[in-house]
Amino acid sequence: MNDPVVFPRPLFPPPARLAVLISGRGSNFEALAEACANGGIPAKIVLVVSDNPAAEGLRKAEKREIPARVVDWAAWPNRQARETALLAALEAEAVDLICLAGFMRILSAAFVARWPLRILNVHPSLLPSFPGLQAQAQALDYGVRLTGATVHFVDAGTDTGPIVAQAAVPVHPGDDAQALAARILPVEHAVYVAALRRVLEGGWRISGRTVRFPGS
Ligand code: GAR
Repeated sequence: MNDPVVFPRPLFPPPARLAVLISGRGSNFEALAEACANGGIPAKIVLVVSDNPAAEGLRKAEKREIPARVVDWAAWPNRQARETALLAALEAEAVDLICLAGFMRILSAAFVARWPLRILNVHPSLLPSFPGLQAQAQALDYGVRLTGATVHFVDAGTDTGPIVAQAAVPVHPGDDAQALAARILPVEHAVYVAALRRVLEGGWRISGRTVRFPGS
């Protein structure tokens, strides 16, 4: 058993400076942006980065007047060059915490090591079940009755980092992947907002891979 590490309260001087990384629709980004705007999360989204120039989430950022950048994965020859560009964008905005929100790229171990317990991700299953792509279809193929949403810290693996929050969602008879994804999505939004708030409030501890919040 590792000695617990206790984090300061608050984690960063509010408002914490967040970057949100997206690849597509950006509904989780919108949920976080809305919570920051209405005071539900003591943070400011200072940067949205998409690896995909056509991501719908970029237009959502523009509407909200949140600075957005494209680090086009296809425009760089290799992962190191892509991550150097990404890092420069994040450092230019003095980002405190990175939120992956439908960002469909794997970050290298070296990149993740620069941001220990400072990158969060949301995933549409109850991890460690069904990591990676098409988690909802994986859940249907397996025949589970319950699946859900997980928010976790990002480590060097794929969807393997310490779990911050989870919520269960039932699978209904007759569900297809689309119907199940639509039932999980609003739960992702709620869990991500609540998890990010608790992380930023600080005072939590991590022991091994177990995260404990004050009062829990
Ligand atoms: C969400 O369901 C998110 O959990 C998932 O992609 C969707 C993005 O939607 N991410 C993953 O599967 C990552 N492994 P959004 O762009 O509307 O937030």
